[in-house]
Amino acid sequence: MIKKIGVLTSGGDAPGMNAAVRAVVRTALSKGIEVYGIRRGYVGLLTGEVVKMDERSVSDIIHRGGTCLCTARCPEFRTMEGVQKAKAKCDELGIEGLVVIGGDGSFRGAADLSSLGMLCIGIPGTIDNDITCTDYTIGFDTAMNTAMELVDKLRDTSQSHDRISVVEVMGRGAGHIAVNTGIACGATDIITKEVPYDLDQIANTMLEKKAKGKQNFVVIVAEGIGHSAEIATALQEKTGIEARSTILGHVQRGGSPTLRDRVEATRLGHYAVELIEQGIGNRVVAIKDNKIVDYDIQEALSMTKSYDEKLHHIAEQIAY
Ligand code: ADP
Ligand code: F6P
Repeated sequence: MIKKIGVLTSGGDAPGMNAAVRAVVRTALSKGIEVYGIRRGYVGLLTGEVVKMDERSVSDIIHRGGTCLCTARCPEFRTMEGVQKAKAKCDELGIEGLVVIGGDGSFRGAADLSSLGMLCIGIPGTIDNDITCTDYTIGFDTAMNTAMELVDKLRDTSQSHDRISVVEVMGRGAGHIAVNTGIACGATDIITKEVPYDLDQIANTMLEKKAKGKQNFVVIVAEGIGHSAEIATALQEKTGIEARSTILGHVQRGGSPTLRDRVEATRLGHYAVELIEQGIGNRVVAIKDNKIVDYDIQEALSMTKSYDEKLHHIAEQIAY
């Protein structure tokens, strides 16, 4: 019978993390399990920065971006001494299970803590949607919608000046935000690491389209490619069309979560507590074909995630 669990958010924040924390806290309390909120990710587990959560502690957060527990990156937790210290702190506080909301890095930490006997459950939370075992990560939908709105605004000015607008979106090494934003914004070109590209070919195609009357171009560049300023300069030189580059940056991580993020975060948070309640640990909860499932953490970390190349090629095919 599990009596006390902890919950923390770790790595980059993502809209919807609050909804996940709320679901974890309220589900646990409804089952008579005490919950401690651990502040600043694994840092709080080392320093003992923990707060007892009651029903009201998660009121008025479901619609807020960021994370009420704060988040951090914690180099000390990458060492086995750090993990042992964290386990000792959990033992001292009587915490028997831990819900970790974060990305791959945070799950590696959870696997280490699991190896010392702590019941850990990972919930995928990152705007990048780059966690291999799940179709969806908390924050992805909100971030894409934010990126879409911002690119729409850039398009207005790009159209007015007959320019090329090169826009870099987040995603760490992955192009999932880029390809979806590109489709949604009617981008002329999408440049991601997953699909080979050639700037000469992109420039030539732009000139062909210009000859047929097209006046402005939106190019979405994934963060993993980077160099968006250089790409803009190169395209300007190769085409003679004026170009500007914009890096959307951390604005993509903020804002009120979309309905999808709130709902998925709630489903995942609820399921995570159901696992811990049964004494199950060392699992990552995930969404597969719209069902909530769970995997062994190591197995989850070793999976490979596919990129939607079909979507990428559709975008290329219909960009005129
Ligand atoms: P994310 O969880 O979003 O991938 P990070 O990679 O920054 O973010 O990881 C968040 C935290 O998880 C790190 O600061 C560290 O405390 C912990 N962590 C990351 N990688 C490992 C690892 N290999 N072993 C143990 N802990 C790790
Ligand atoms: O993982 C989320 C993310 O926003 C990535 O898209 C980006 O590469 C990274 O975090 C930025 O991290 P930081 O907040 O440390 O600048």
